[in-house]
Amino acid sequence: MTDQQLVAHARAAALKAYAPYSRFFVGCAIESVDGEVVTGANMENASYRLGVCAELAALTAAQLAFGLDKVARIAVAGGDGSGPELAGNASVTPCGGCRQSILEVAQMAGRDIEILCASGDGKAVETHRIADLIPHGFGPANIVDAS
Ligand code: THU
Repeated sequence: MTDQQLVAHARAAALKAYAPYSRFFVGCAIESVDGEVVTGANMENASYRLGVCAELAALTAAQLAFGLDKVARIAVAGGDGSGPELAGNASVTPCGGCRQSILEVAQMAGRDIEILCASGDGKAVETHRIADLIPHGFGPANIVDAS
């Protein structure tokens, strides 16, 4: 799958977000090592802090569909979801909490995960690796000395 195809999945998923409070629609598409794709979107709550990010929703879907150990690539897109297509010029990178969750998967799977960070309109795409987005992160590899 091309980068633009994976970003297109993320943009389409964003339109299904439940984001009445921020009105910022985020979609995430995760591709497995075998080319399977699952998606997620952000889901907010009137108790604001209970909102769930698109990446977490998609990671949950990935675990159910093919297992977190098979996560290969992730695309995230966010913007204005009020029209027929997701819009906006600014690329969206995962929040700190989502970086931590992606790091968990990367360390568990023993694979550095690529993340395509796209604008709402899909025209601006920054490509990063989780190791760069959360340098010196704390993950499963750091708790190997627990009894
Ligand atoms: N959001 C995500 O879904 N993923 C991110 O990585 C950044 C933020 C959501 C959370 C909230 O519903 C909205 O975007 C505005 O912060």
